[in-house]
Amino acid sequence: MHGKHRVDLADKLHKLVNGRAMESATHRVRRWFLSRRSPVPLDPPEIIRTIDRERFEEIRARHGMEDPGEEPPKYLDLPVWIEANLKRIRDLELDLGRRQRVLDIGSGTGYFLYICSLLGHDAVGIDLDEMPMFNEMITLLGVDRRIWRIEAFVPLPDLGRFDVVTAYQICFNGHKSDQLWGVAEWEFFLNDLSTHLTPRGRVWLEFNREFDGTCFSTELERYFESRGAEVTSNRVVFNATLRAPVATARASR
Ligand SMILES: C[S@@+](CC[C@H](N)C(=O)[O-])C[C@H]1O[C@@H](n2cnc3c(N)ncnc32)[C@H](O)[C@@H]1O
Repeated sequence: MHGKHRVDLADKLHKLVNGRAMESATHRVRRWFLSRRSPVPLDPPEIIRTIDRERFEEIRARHGMEDPGEEPPKYLDLPVWIEANLKRIRDLELDLGRRQRVLDIGSGTGYFLYICSLLGHDAVGIDLDEMPMFNEMITLLGVDRRIWRIEAFVPLPDLGRFDVVTAYQICFNGHKSDQLWGVAEWEFFLNDLSTHLTPRGRVWLEFNREFDGTCFSTELERYFESRGAEVTSNRVVFNATLRAPVATARASR
């Protein structure tokens, strides 16, 4: 290699390394400025320490089981589920920036709502009240959960507008039944949901696997994408306002 080329290469490498260092420093400064102050450090053991241990152990004594597998008592493994929900918070950057209104559909034990509340967000859940263990955890955590059954072709209750709507491990879509939602049901749901969002409201949906091992059909995946979603594996994310449905968009031309 000629001397000049060696100098060019060294120069490029220097810029690259410094550029990266600068970028990560900028990122760190940005996160520091934007980070939302929680009353406790945002890590699972500290968050768990804020939960009344005695009352939690009573719930665990009533509903826990040795090897829950995929059964709901699995949610009583606090370190696992607080960690999982903290990751959800970070993926949505709810640990950063301004206070937001958050709706969590099918909120289960309420861990996600709880961390949102620690961070000062205004978080509301929707769920059935069929599972005593979920009901007791919701009371223990003191989070805001409304009892409501999501049904195909029925609008959501009016709870105001939300900056973020989430649904994790979705079951309200007729999961593992012969009533599994198709495009028509999702179209109704998303159209209705768009009326509950702030102008730049985001929607984050995570699906369960059906009997055939898939989370949704190819047709449904294309439909979500046609409305502006980013689809990855079991996740469907709308990062800005939901795009008008294809049929409506065509009709309005
Ligand atoms: C698998 S759990 C997931 C809980 C929580 N989202 C999580 O990921 O930890 C599914 C939740 O959806 C709720 N659910 C099921 N069908 C529903 C429906 N039709 N309307 C509202 N909630 C429903 C269940 O009660 C339960 O809390």
